[in-house]
Amino acid sequence: MASGKIIIAIDGYSSTGKSTFAKLVAKGLGYIYADSGALYRAITYFAYTNGFIDEKGNVDKENLQKVIMNITVSFRTNKKGESRTLLNGTDVERQIRTLTVSNNVSRIAEIPYVRSFVNMQLRSMAVDKGLVMDGRDIGTAVFPNAELKIFMTASEQVRAMRRFKELQEKGEKDTFEQVLENLRKRDYIDSHRETDPLTRSKDAIELDNSSMTMEEEIEWLNKILLPNFNLKVELDKEE
Ligand code: CDP
Repeated sequence: MASGKIIIAIDGYSSTGKSTFAKLVAKGLGYIYADSGALYRAITYFAYTNGFIDEKGNVDKENLQKVIMNITVSFRTNKKGESRTLLNGTDVERQIRTLTVSNNVSRIAEIPYVRSFVNMQLRSMAVDKGLVMDGRDIGTAVFPNAELKIFMTASEQVRAMRRFKELQEKGEKDTFEQVLENLRKRDYIDSHRETDPLTRSKDAIELDNSSMTMEEEIEWLNKILLPNFNLKVELDKEE
């Protein structure tokens, strides 16, 4: 049995509940949580607000490449214990979750130099292991040697409804159909791009959470963690 801290890579289609699950797992193990999608979203927000993406969604790749090294994305936890994404020091957590960013992010994320830039930052988070990271290519490209890889899935309708409710709670006016369309489009681009497409790593364990509660997901995980790594996620663990 392996012992000590491990890296847990969680990949899957959009809105499968990866980040909610990953955050709980990290908290319950006392690990760091890293949201790789937030980096792609922050870069997209930067590109969008600085004129590198036109109304049709075309990206000015040449000029974006010239400035990408000046982009700093960092994370901080606020007083409520929520993780916030900072772009060059400014909190953009709300802005990066909008449908406008969702509609452009996969075009930014398919650019090879963007992926190298993000991967460099993601790998620097793993110095001491003890890391839970979610995304599309964490188990295949970012940390191919991660000790545990999970591939999350859920039915399309369930995923779209979850994201729709999330956006509604934030006061966004997008319709269910718009959310569903974005989800389908992103899944298609993410799985068909040339560089590190979304694909299930051969050694990843699949978790279909279409009709599972979060407690059941954690129970499922503990059945893997305990015998293989002597680790257990405690849901009620204090901060
Ligand atoms: O929350 P949701 O699952 O909808 O997406 P996200 O994790 O915030 O990621 C947003 C987008 O970033 C994805 O649709 C991908 O285009 C891109 N992404 C990626 O290419 N590789 C990753 N490791 C993470 C995200």
